[in-house]
Amino acid sequence: MYFPIYRPRRMRKDAFSRYLIQENYLNTKQIIYPIFIVDGVNQQQDIEAMPNVKRYSLDRVLKVCENAINSGVYTIALFPVIEPHLKDENGSLALDPDGLIPRAIKHIKNRFPQLGIITDIALDPYTSHGQDGLIDESGYVINDETVGVLQKQALLYAQSGCDIVAPSDMMDGRVMSIRSILEDNKLIHTKILAYSAKYASAFYGPFRDAVGSKTNLGKSNKQTYQMHPANIQEAIREVQLDISEGADMVMVKPGLPYLDVIKSIKDRFSFPTFAYHVSGEYAMLHAAAKNGWLDYNQALIEIMFAFKRAGCDGLLTYAALDIAKLIKENNI
Ligand code: PBG
Repeated sequence: MYFPIYRPRRMRKDAFSRYLIQENYLNTKQIIYPIFIVDGVNQQQDIEAMPNVKRYSLDRVLKVCENAINSGVYTIALFPVIEPHLKDENGSLALDPDGLIPRAIKHIKNRFPQLGIITDIALDPYTSHGQDGLIDESGYVINDETVGVLQKQALLYAQSGCDIVAPSDMMDGRVMSIRSILEDNKLIHTKILAYSAKYASAFYGPFRDAVGSKTNLGKSNKQTYQMHPANIQEAIREVQLDISEGADMVMVKPGLPYLDVIKSIKDRFSFPTFAYHVSGEYAMLHAAAKNGWLDYNQALIEIMFAFKRAGCDGLLTYAALDIAKLIKENNI
């Protein structure tokens, strides 16, 4: 094809012809809204680095769910915020049948049975040291013992009515263990969204503030279980393992800095592939927009198309309801 026979600008001239050749679309049905929940009554707490994201008490969260459904967002992900004095070394509260998450699931399902609920399977919101699992004397997160607890946590949340359990801990063998305990308990419809390629990332900063694990974690890091940002082949091995262990969906996290990982995984496995547009990515966008350095709405939509091009199916983002509004208004 040579100029002037082929003039690519011909199709870009008018809106209708631009629509005709648009390759990707955004759909609220594949957007997942993460929600922070906190104990208490009538709570709606701001999170400094995450504008418009709040921690809600259970009496307030139903309204948020209703807004999501009315916006065409049909899946939410719940994250608990636990008071510091209730955290301990072993994250015991993660297994409390009357804990915040089991109560939240029942409360929301009771009102909105059709709303898909995802819960994180990991101990960091509950541990006094802020790590995702149990630690030994040296502070090392011990794999197999942790997996035993995660299995129980997943079973409890599934029994409470959670649709999708999402192990975010990066322990070895946890997907297989969770799948087997679900099978043993006849919970054959509970889905597993595996945080398969989760990197040891600076972009989780605002989230750790939001759930209060930042101070607990202190100067420690998660490099003995989360992946090094330099690696992609390791991500492929992790995904391969999780698929073989029984995951229904795999996820890459963070999102935008790892688009190559998403693309490689999607091309290689043809498996439902998700990304988490994490708290730090959301915070960066808001910070720049607040300074007038870029347009929040335009930049947000551009980022969403990047995920789509890379081959993402679903996407978790704190901007879910903003995107829904833009899709509705702008004929995107
Ligand atoms: C906990 C968990 C984290 C996030 C989701 N689940 C933080 C971490 O691993 O330290 C981060 C989400 C975000 O930054 O938006 N296992």
